[in-house]
Amino acid sequence: MTNPVTYETQGAIAVLRINNPPVNALSQAVRQGLSDGMDRAEADRDVKAVLIVGEGRAFIAGADITEFGKLPMEPNLPDLCTRIESSPLLVAASMHGVTLGGGLEVALGTHYRIAQPTARLGLPEVHLGLLPGAGGTQRLPRLTGADKAIEIMISGRQIKAAEALELGLLDKVEEGDPQEVGLAFVNELLANGAPRRAVSELPAAAPIDWEAAHAGALKKGRGQINVGTIVRAVQAASELGFAEGMERERGLFMELLQSDQSKGMIHAFFNERAVSNLPELKGVAPRALNAIGVIGGGTMGAGIATAALLAKLDVVLIETGQEQADAARGRIEGNLQGALKRGKISQPQYDALTTKALTLATNYASLGEVDLVVEAVFEDMAVKKEVFAKLDAACKQGAILASNTSYLDVDEIAAATSRPEDVIGLHFFSPAHVMKLLEVVVADKTAADVVATGFELGKRLGKISVRSGVCDGFIGNRILAAYRTAADHMVLDGASPYQIDSALTGFGFAMGPFAVGDLAGLDIGWMTRKRKAADRHPDERVPTYADRLCEEGHFGRKTGAGYYLYEAGSRASVPNPRIPELIAAEQAELNITPRDFSDEEIVRRYMCAMVNEAAKVVEEGIARRPADVDMVLLFGYGFPRYGGGPLKWADLQGLAGVLADIEHYAQEDAWFWKPAPLLKSLVADGRSFDDLNRAGG
Ligand code: CAA
Ligand code: NAI
Repeated sequence: MTNPVTYETQGAIAVLRINNPPVNALSQAVRQGLSDGMDRAEADRDVKAVLIVGEGRAFIAGADITEFGKLPMEPNLPDLCTRIESSPLLVAASMHGVTLGGGLEVALGTHYRIAQPTARLGLPEVHLGLLPGAGGTQRLPRLTGADKAIEIMISGRQIKAAEALELGLLDKVEEGDPQEVGLAFVNELLANGAPRRAVSELPAAAPIDWEAAHAGALKKGRGQINVGTIVRAVQAASELGFAEGMERERGLFMELLQSDQSKGMIHAFFNERAVSNLPELKGVAPRALNAIGVIGGGTMGAGIATAALLAKLDVVLIETGQEQADAARGRIEGNLQGALKRGKISQPQYDALTTKALTLATNYASLGEVDLVVEAVFEDMAVKKEVFAKLDAACKQGAILASNTSYLDVDEIAAATSRPEDVIGLHFFSPAHVMKLLEVVVADKTAADVVATGFELGKRLGKISVRSGVCDGFIGNRILAAYRTAADHMVLDGASPYQIDSALTGFGFAMGPFAVGDLAGLDIGWMTRKRKAADRHPDERVPTYADRLCEEGHFGRKTGAGYYLYEAGSRASVPNPRIPELIAAEQAELNITPRDFSDEEIVRRYMCAMVNEAAKVVEEGIARRPADVDMVLLFGYGFPRYGGGPLKWADLQGLAGVLADIEHYAQEDAWFWKPAPLLKSLVADGRSFDDLNRAGG
C-alpha cells in the first residue's frame, strides 16, 4: 500500500502532504504517515519547520468514521496531535476546503495556521453522537473562551475562514495554492524568528456558569446526551491541567463511543449516503432535467415548485383556473420570501425566480418543453387518471410523468397513459421545500433511467431519496398507519392522547402522533377510515371518537380545534376538553374499563408496532434494505437522529425482546399484533437488521 502522506523538503521546510481520497480522512495509514513524517523531519538536520497540507478537495475531513467500532489502531489521534504539538520544530497547517473534526484537532496541534478564504473549519462530532476526542475540547477553549467553544462544538457548524481568523483559530487567510501560501507563511515566520507556540500551553479558559451551560445544552439537545458531555469536557479544560483534561476528554469520548446514540447517529451518517446508491442504477444515465412541470399549486404543488426554483430549475405550474393559479403564485412567493428573509436568496434572485423562472398557466399546452412533471392534485384516483391522460397527450416524448400521491396505486395511474415506462411516483413531504425526504416510488413498468432521474431530481433538490415499491402508503405512510393505530388502541384502553404525545416527544420524536394529526388535518384520516370501512375485518379495532370530532367540523389546526385547541395567530395549543368526553363515551359504549399506562409502555408498544410493520415492508421488498426504512422515518417522520431509525433501534434493543413483546401484545389483539415473519426468522437465526444491511438487502 502506498503511503498516503508524502514527504518532501522545500529549503528548510518539510512538507507533509496528505493524499487519502475522497476527503483525506485520518485513517490509521494517514496517522502513521504523519507521525513518521514528523520523525523524519526532526531527524533531518537541515529542516527547521514542518508544513502540513492536504491533496484534493479538503485539508482533512476528520477521523475515519469507518474505523469506529473496530479495534483501535496505533498511533491514536490524540497522541498524534500531542506528538505534533510537542515537536521542537515549528509546525504549521495550510488549509483548504473543509477541515473538520480530527482534522481541525490536528491543525490545533500545530503552532501556526493559515487557510484559503473559502476554507471552512468545524468540529461536527456532535452529529455523530460524540465529542471532539483528540484534544479539541481542551485546545479550542484556550483560543476562543469556554462559551464560544461550547457553541462551536454543540452546533457542529462549519466556520468560514474570516470568522475563524477573528476567533484566533487562524493566523492568516490568503488565497493561492495552499502549499505555496503555506511555504511563504512559514518562511516568513522563520525569518522573523517566530517561536513554537503550543495551544496547550496557553492559559486555561476562564470558568463560566457550568451548570447553566450544561442545562442549556441538554435543553437544546432534546434528548441528545453528548451535548451535555461536551460542556463537561470544556469544564475539565478550564478546571484541570492540560494532561489531566486530555485524560478526562478521552474517558468521556470512549463513553459516548459506546453509547446507543452514537451508534444510531453513525448509522444515519452512512445510510443517508448509501440510500441512493442503487446497484441496478450503476451506469444508468439520468435523463436531461432543466425545466419541470407541476400540476396543482396547493400545499404540496407550491412547495415542490419552490424547491425546484431554489434548485435553479424552471417551473411551469398548471392550475384549474386563474383564481387558483393566482393563489398558487401567492403560496410560492410566500415560500420564497421566507428564503429571502433567511438570506438563502438575494432580492435580485427572488425577482428572477418569481418572474423568469416561474410560469403559471391553466392549460396543458404550456407543458410541451418540460423534462419532468410532478402531479400534485387532489388525492382521488379518477382525477389523477384524467390528469395523466392529459399529460400523456401534452408532454414531449421522453418526458417523465410523476405523481406525488400519498397512497394511490402508481401502476394504475401509469396505466392511464400510453407510456407507463415513463411514469413514477415522487412522494414529497410537507412542507416540500423544507422536508428532506423524497420517496422514489418505482412501479412495475418504470424504466431504469426514469428511476435514475428521480434520484437525480432528489439530489438537485437537496433531498434524501429512498426507493420504494408500490403499496398502500409506500414505505412511510404504511408504517405510520400501523404505529398510529397502536396509539389509537392505547387511547381506547386508557392512555390519553396528551400522555402519548408527551411520552413520544420524551423519547425524542419531533412531535407526538396526535399533534401531527392536527397539523396534517384530521379530515384525511377520517376519509381514509370511511374508504376502508367496507373491507374491515370483524376483529379489527377501529376507534371512532375522532370521527365524532370531524362530524362536529373540527379538523385540527386549520379549523382551530382537533386533539388540541389553537388560538388564532398563535402557535401555542392546549388540550381540547371535548376529547376526554368523546373517548369516555366510546369506552362506555364498548364496555372498556380504562387502565393506566406508563410512558415506558406507551413508547414500547408504539415502537414495536413500527418495527413490526417495517419488517413486513422490508420482507415484501417495498423497501430495499432495513436502513432505507430507517432513513424514511428519520427524514420524513421526525424520528430522532440519535435513535438511528426504528430498525436500528430494534437491533440495539435486541430483536428477541421486541418479538417477545409483540407476541405478548398479540395475546390481547391477535389481529393487529401479527409478528412479521422476517422478525421471527432473524430472531431464530440470531441475526440483526444490520446484518441484512451489510448483505445488501
Ligand atoms: N471518514 C470516512 N469517510 C468519510 C468521512 C470520514 N470522516 N467523511 C466523508 N467520508 C466519505 C463519505 O462516506 C462519502 O463516501 P461515499 O462516496 O462512499 O459515499 C465520501 O467520503 C464523500 O462524502 P460526501 O458525499 O459527504 O461528500 P461532500 O462533499 O458532500 O461532503 C464532507 C464532504 C463535508 C467532508 C462530509 O462528508 C462530512 O461532513 N463528513 C463528515 C465529517 C465529520 O463528521 N468529521 C468528524 C469525524 S469524527 C472525528 O473526527 C472524531 C474525533 O475527534 C476522533
Ligand atoms: P391541496 O388540496 O392543497 O392542493 C391540490 C391542488 O390541486 C388545488 O390547488 C387544486 O386547485 C389543484 N387541482 C385539482 N385538480 C386539478 C387539475 N385537474 N389540474 C390542475 N390542478 C388541479 O392538496 P395537497 O395537500 O397539496 O395534496 C396534493 C397531492 O399531494 C395529493 O395527492 C396528496 O395525497 C399528496 N400529498 C399530500 C401531502 C400533504 O401533507 N398535504 C404530503 C404528500 C403528498
